[in-house]
Amino acid sequence: MPLFDHFDLLAPLYDKVIGYKDPVKIIDLGGFPVEGMVLDAGGGTGRISQALLGKAAQLIVLDLSYRMLQKANQKIGLKPVCSHTEYLPFPNETFDVVVMVDALHHVCDQYDTVLELLRVVKTGGRIVIEEPDIRTFVVKLVALAEKLTLMRSRFLSPEQIGALFPTEAGKVTIHRDSFNAWITLQKMAE
Ligand SMILES: C[S@@+](CC[C@H](N)C(=O)[O-])C[C@H]1O[C@@H](n2cnc3c(N)ncnc32)[C@H](O)[C@@H]1O
Repeated sequence: MPLFDHFDLLAPLYDKVIGYKDPVKIIDLGGFPVEGMVLDAGGGTGRISQALLGKAAQLIVLDLSYRMLQKANQKIGLKPVCSHTEYLPFPNETFDVVVMVDALHHVCDQYDTVLELLRVVKTGGRIVIEEPDIRTFVVKLVALAEKLTLMRSRFLSPEQIGALFPTEAGKVTIHRDSFNAWITLQKMAE
């Protein structure tokens, strides 16, 4: 158990340091706009969700860090929920879309997280996971920096992330740019 949470410490500066991002790929791959609810898992300060405002009936930002969520709470229209991605406090088939940006490598259990994302998304709904692509040199440096600062990050390749989904869950597609990868799945009926 770590003595402190990195993101609680980073929260006051996070949006300023990381910067606003227009999540064009998330909007495209998630099929936005959608009519129902959207979950931003490991959504932190709501940096991504704020760009999805008006594109869904409700946006829930779920995160483990209370201080990151305090920042999300200051953004009108976002609903913060403090929880682990490994145990989501929602019924099965709640969300039209689940997004997870730059957070999968931070969670304790990536397999349990993916199964939970799958459980709470509706049949026909989409999961979009954005992760830094560990096969690139720049992201290898980021991974080293996170190790040196005692973050418990564990980076998987896009294919390894895709393989976390049970094969019967749906077809996984992978998109890439210079540093990031997007792993998308549309949930099939059981
Ligand atoms: C790099 S930040 C990304 C935040 C946001 N998705 C964004 O792109 O701005 C990673 C976030 O994952 C959260 N996190 C780490 N492990 C988690 C877990 N097991 N359950 C929920 N959130 C978690 C951290 O608290 C942090 O806010």
